[in-house]
Amino acid sequence: MTVTPPKLNSIKTQYVKSVGLDPERMPSHVAIIMDGNGRWAQAQGKHRLMGHNQGYLTLKKIVMEAEQLGLKCLTVYGFSTENWRRSPEEVGGLMRLMLVAMRAEIDELIQKEIRVRISGRLHELPDDLREEFEEAASRTSLFTNFTFNLAINYGGRAEVVDSVRAILQKVRSGKILPDQIEERMIGDNLYAPDIPDPDLLIRTAGELRLSNFLLWETAYSEIYVTPTCWPDFDRDHFIGSLKEYQMRTRKFGAVSENGLI
Ligand code: IPE
Ligand code: IPE
Ligand code: MG
Repeated sequence: MTVTPPKLNSIKTQYVKSVGLDPERMPSHVAIIMDGNGRWAQAQGKHRLMGHNQGYLTLKKIVMEAEQLGLKCLTVYGFSTENWRRSPEEVGGLMRLMLVAMRAEIDELIQKEIRVRISGRLHELPDDLREEFEEAASRTSLFTNFTFNLAINYGGRAEVVDSVRAILQKVRSGKILPDQIEERMIGDNLYAPDIPDPDLLIRTAGELRLSNFLLWETAYSEIYVTPTCWPDFDRDHFIGSLKEYQMRTRKFGAVSENGLI
């Protein structure tokens, strides 16, 4: 396994250098568990939904920054398959916020040629939100430079189950034999099989767990956890996490990145 940094044009290369990053060691795909909205709000005596609103503002900035830095893909955890356990008020507020946000942002996303994708069990979402997401995905489907991948009603276990179901359909129809099932096939039937695994996984708000995010894809991701709550996470924190990533040695089970040391 090798690490291929994204190919940057000269403007992006210059920008990456200007913030103190090495263009040769940039990650292609960064995934973020945007946690701590509730704590951020509660610490200020505000309603949890205020934290989610503020988290949306953070997300806007980080998506644009990721694009400017020349990443190929940013995946963010927006709503997990377990987040339905929250109060109807909070779940309803989150669904409304996602709808309003998607409607508000779609023109700028198109103008910046950002491809929008959704990973998760979309069919279980309210119809208006599902339709908004599907429309955003289809209107941006031809953009190739940068992908903003939203994990909504996403669960890592559900994703593997969905992959296994798709494979079993092929077994049942005689296209493959059970003996032919191999690791690559599980990956090929995940929600976004063409997106390479995340190089870096960031979690804000300090919890040291995956909370069912990208269980399959993060097998060899570098993990960066910051105590900063998501609404306070800014460009400098983001660049700081990329600097930390650039200091890591990725080994993939071998002795070093290039196998020489
Ligand atoms: C993350 O923030 C956003 C979602 C899960 C939708 P939280 O709402 O989990 O914030 P904390 O963890 O309660 O602080
Ligand atoms: C993970 O955060 C889900 C999202 C960020 C959308 P949670 O707040 O739901 O995770 P736990 O409950 O702390 O593990
Ligand atoms: Mg949380």
